[in-house]
Amino acid sequence: MDYKNVLKLISENISSGLFIVNKEGIVVFYNQSANNLAGLNEENAIGKHMLEIFPKLTEETSTIIRALTTGEVIKNYVQNYYNYQRKLVTILSNTVPIYENGEIVGAIEIFSDVDQYKNINQNRYNKKQKGNIIEKAHYTIDEIVGVGQCVKDVKQKIKKIADSKSPVLVYGETGTGKELIVQSIHNLSQRCDNPFIAQNCAAIPGTLLESMLFGTTLGSFTGAKDSKGLIEAADGGTLFLDEINSMDIMLQAKLLRVLQEGHIRRIGENKTRFVDVRIITALNQNPYKAIEEGRLRSDLFYRLNVINFSLLPLRDRSEDLEVLSYHFLNEFNRSLDKNIKGFTNEVIEFFHSYNWPGNIRELRHSIEHAVNMTEKDIIAIEDLPKCVDINHKATDYLQENRGEEKNVIIINETLDEMMNEYERKIISKSLKQNDYNVVKTSKMLNIPRQTLYYKMKRLGIKADKSME
Ligand SMILES: Nc1ncnc2c1ncn2[C@@H]1O[C@H](COP(=O)(O)OP(=O)(O)OP(=O)(O)O)[C@@H](O)[C@H]1O
Ligand SMILES: [Mg+2]
Repeated sequence: MDYKNVLKLISENISSGLFIVNKEGIVVFYNQSANNLAGLNEENAIGKHMLEIFPKLTEETSTIIRALTTGEVIKNYVQNYYNYQRKLVTILSNTVPIYENGEIVGAIEIFSDVDQYKNINQNRYNKKQKGNIIEKAHYTIDEIVGVGQCVKDVKQKIKKIADSKSPVLVYGETGTGKELIVQSIHNLSQRCDNPFIAQNCAAIPGTLLESMLFGTTLGSFTGAKDSKGLIEAADGGTLFLDEINSMDIMLQAKLLRVLQEGHIRRIGENKTRFVDVRIITALNQNPYKAIEEGRLRSDLFYRLNVINFSLLPLRDRSEDLEVLSYHFLNEFNRSLDKNIKGFTNEVIEFFHSYNWPGNIRELRHSIEHAVNMTEKDIIAIEDLPKCVDINHKATDYLQENRGEEKNVIIINETLDEMMNEYERKIISKSLKQNDYNVVKTSKMLNIPRQTLYYKMKRLGIKADKSME
């Protein structure tokens, strides 16, 4: 393979900027995305020294010169600078020295536009936003549906603690309603007219998240004005940090300090600023397990876990299944302009037997799918979404890679796919054992006959010997 050509192709097709300099710091390679970010074209850059292109930088502040002179690898570094066209840009860069025969012969810098991350993240959380700041939570406590004890307790607790400033930690599997609860707390509190700022910690590299949370003071190399972080932006309101177990462990220590001291310091600044922010965090992994795995600092956990919501998965809340199903049916009847009356008994039975890995979100999507698909005024089992293709994929893979009896764990499939395959295997074997009698098999597996039929259909299993 011609690696020069490959490098050219990569550099032309990535959205990140790419600089390569020789050992003197002279630019020898420079891609289109770098043109856009640095505000300059290739003819102007090639053959020039880095400090000539960025006159505000110095030998100390330029990461590429640093990598060149010290041999340091500089990862996820956030920099603010005025580009060649005097436009202020914030970039996240990774810089590595190039070694040949043990000597540094140049350096590479790959960098991307930080604002692009900010927008993706914040758009996920709220529809009402001004510029980059999310201003309002849209869910309220009345939207929390359910008749079981878990939902009753949650609603009562929200009412009790909404006005307190104590930190809250919400734990629950994906789709169990964590966001719904967090926003409801904010909307019921006296802070409801102040900002609600949500940030997912998983989507952002550590150093960038730090500057987003704490804000930055631009150093001598930039000359630009200060920028406020999300903690300050949430002053008077609520800061929701989702997937806290994905936050860099060093940053967790800094967050703990904010919680203990009640003030922050922007990066590169000596001055402290007092903030009045309620911090709510969420995670979809058991917090004790996260601590054990070293993903969550125990001191931070105890500080965050002053008020705690632990949400049950949908499979353990069967008392809420029907009321939630009808709630979503009404919602989609309205939005899709339909008039579907309900569900067959078989559907309800299936809902009770299914394990709902995606929890309430999955139930909602299944009902949306069914409302779109049905041609009658009642939802039947065949209107629910099926995953036939996924099963085929898992089956093919299995057949290619093992004999029937070997116990192989397929790690390149999703958990759902593996569970489906496991279920398919158990059902097929039980059917064979019962001479393909569905009634006997359903008794043996202790599930209703209709549920077994549904599962067989979903998993592509036929009740005859041709499957052997
Ligand atoms: N008790 C409930 N009543 C009505 N709708 C609910 C309830 N719980 C969750 N939902 C709905 O389920 C969907 C998923 O909820 P939400 O986004 O709050 O889950 P989550 O726990 O934050 O999930 P993730 O961990 O994937 O971010 C949303 O559409 C939400 O409105
Ligand atoms: Mg969520």
